[in-house]
Amino acid sequence: MMSPIMTEEAFDVIVVGSCMTDLVSQASRLPKEGETIHGHNFFIGFGGKGANQCIQAARLGAKTAMVAKVGKDFFGDNYIQNFKDNSVHTGFVEQTPDAATGVASIIVNDAGQNAIVIVAGANMLLSVEKLQEALPAVSRTKVLVCQLEISPQTSLQALRMAQENKVKTIFNPAPAIPDLDPDFYRFSDVFCCNESEAELLTGLSVNKVEEAHQAGRELLRRGCGAVIITLGAQGCVVLDVQDPSSKHVPTPAVTAVDTTGAGDSFIGALAFYMAHYPTMQLEEAARRAGQVAGASVQAMGTQTSFPHRQDLAAQLF
Ligand code: RIB
Repeated sequence: MMSPIMTEEAFDVIVVGSCMTDLVSQASRLPKEGETIHGHNFFIGFGGKGANQCIQAARLGAKTAMVAKVGKDFFGDNYIQNFKDNSVHTGFVEQTPDAATGVASIIVNDAGQNAIVIVAGANMLLSVEKLQEALPAVSRTKVLVCQLEISPQTSLQALRMAQENKVKTIFNPAPAIPDLDPDFYRFSDVFCCNESEAELLTGLSVNKVEEAHQAGRELLRRGCGAVIITLGAQGCVVLDVQDPSSKHVPTPAVTAVDTTGAGDSFIGALAFYMAHYPTMQLEEAARRAGQVAGASVQAMGTQTSFPHRQDLAAQLF
């Protein structure tokens, strides 16, 4: 049973999404197919795109809740404690005996780039029926965020529930699937993906800013309220139906140590800005979110690298 919440409790940001235990190996380079290489460091951390985004929003000062499923196991117990340590409401995080907590095997090279394989486990058991129990909270939150590391039907239903209640939605189609249900575009106030996801979804190449503008126009045409394509060190492009001219938002140059979760840091920050500054232009929210994500790539690990509000320049708030 999910634990009930006080009926008057309202959140800034609710994330319906994944929790993963990240098993991270550092090596000088990523292995080729069929190759074994020596790494030089290993650590275990908290990850999962949904939880990462929720934790980043919480660290900036958003009142957050997570809707998720973890295993009734050691990793699941630890994950719930991690949410509590980061002031994330856990009343909608359920433990199941039917599957293990999700895991992500991650390799990070010396340039801070990564390769990731996830085994979603318990995440895939988060059902539409369970989501229904969170409806009173979802209907009152300011921003709802979803990704694709849980069942797509559950993500889609969460976005639908939010839009029916005039709650702003951010959808992060990650990991991307080529045959994405067209309703995902319709139910996204902000559709936010990275270059490789944009390529898979549009069939267009997205290596340069110019190409991102074009892919952004194609995604916007499919019915979302706005599109953001993140481009790593090149910043992002932002398009909005209100002002469909595609804008490039650069990001300050930093030395990357580990880019794992940088996109999640960006989306968590974006959710925070949309909830706390509802009249802020999306372009400005994206510019600030890019600076938060830029801070996250300068330290190792996923959530361990996500900045707290007090670590960041006052002008970002
Ligand atoms: O986006 C980074 C995340 O992807 C990692 O934390 C890993 O768990 C995978 O979900």
